[in-house]
Amino acid sequence: MENSSKRLSNKVAVITGGARGIGAATAKLFAENGAYVVVADILDEEGKQVAESIGGMYVHCDVSREEDVEMAVQVAMARKNKLDVMFNNAGIAIYEGSITDIDVDKVNHLVSVNVNGVLHGVKHAAKAMIKGGGGGSIICTSSSAGEMGGLGGHAYTLSKGAINGLVRSTACELGSYGIRVNSISPHGVPTEILVKAYRKFLGHEVDATEVGRIVAEKGSLLHGRWGTVEDVANAALFLASDRESGFVTGHNLVIDGGYTSATNACQFIYQ
Ligand SMILES: NC(=O)c1ccc[n+]([C@@H]2O[C@H](COP(=O)([O-])OP(=O)(O)OC[C@H]3O[C@@H](n4cnc5c(N)ncnc54)[C@H](O)[C@@H]3O)[C@@H](O)[C@H]2O)c1
Repeated sequence: MENSSKRLSNKVAVITGGARGIGAATAKLFAENGAYVVVADILDEEGKQVAESIGGMYVHCDVSREEDVEMAVQVAMARKNKLDVMFNNAGIAIYEGSITDIDVDKVNHLVSVNVNGVLHGVKHAAKAMIKGGGGGSIICTSSSAGEMGGLGGHAYTLSKGAINGLVRSTACELGSYGIRVNSISPHGVPTEILVKAYRKFLGHEVDATEVGRIVAEKGSLLHGRWGTVEDVANAALFLASDRESGFVTGHNLVIDGGYTSATNACQFIYQ
């Protein structure tokens, strides 16, 4: 029998970018907390493994294609007849260099995943949630790069700023249906996307442990601490739970070890 004291008991969730990293950790945590999870990604092998390990379902979904995202939502509806939580988490980064040489085709590709992908997720989740009588939680993954300049390339920063705007805008419209829309902004979590970025910026090979150490030293106010996928998954769990975050909407929850609240002067004064 299902334990109704679990934080997401009887809830149905779709997680894009759920095959690895933050998405996979969140899929696991949501399932441990009682949710049925549809894992949506383009990495079929990894995605199937995650879904299988948590008793959920995998669906191939390129979030830049609206029909794929609609299908992922439809799979949840067909299986469980409802959608409670949509986690629009899939994202990519590019390292385009100077604005003076920016390749607009590459930017458009990034935007098609990071911005359109989230837009597709909000749209089809909202349709399903409204059809189901309202209520539900939509969570979108933004970034510390949406808060400050200089933390990602121009295209990545642009895309995460757009997500913050979309979250506020759709929270306004969907509040009347009892649907909450929030974003989370991770920072300094040594997953594939961040390790690749560090390789590019440093110009040499680094592994996740080394990236973690650099974040702990230079990218966090908390001594010896970098971000983990579990830190971010726990923030998503809070926003997914109506019991805990039922009066929270239009919010951007930053998970950054305090980094974006600090200035260089703050770090200089107290070191
Ligand atoms: N790791 C960090 O420090 C950090 C910081 C800020 C924001 N983020 C954001 O967190 C989210 C998750 O990233 P992560 O850190 O787990 O990195 P990751 O690279 O490990 O995971 C990204 C996931 O998105 C999937 N994906 C990529 N393109 C896709 C597409 N077109 N359709 C469907 N899935 C696609 C990948 O296959 C992968 O499973 C991203 O939106 C990223 O921008 C991460």
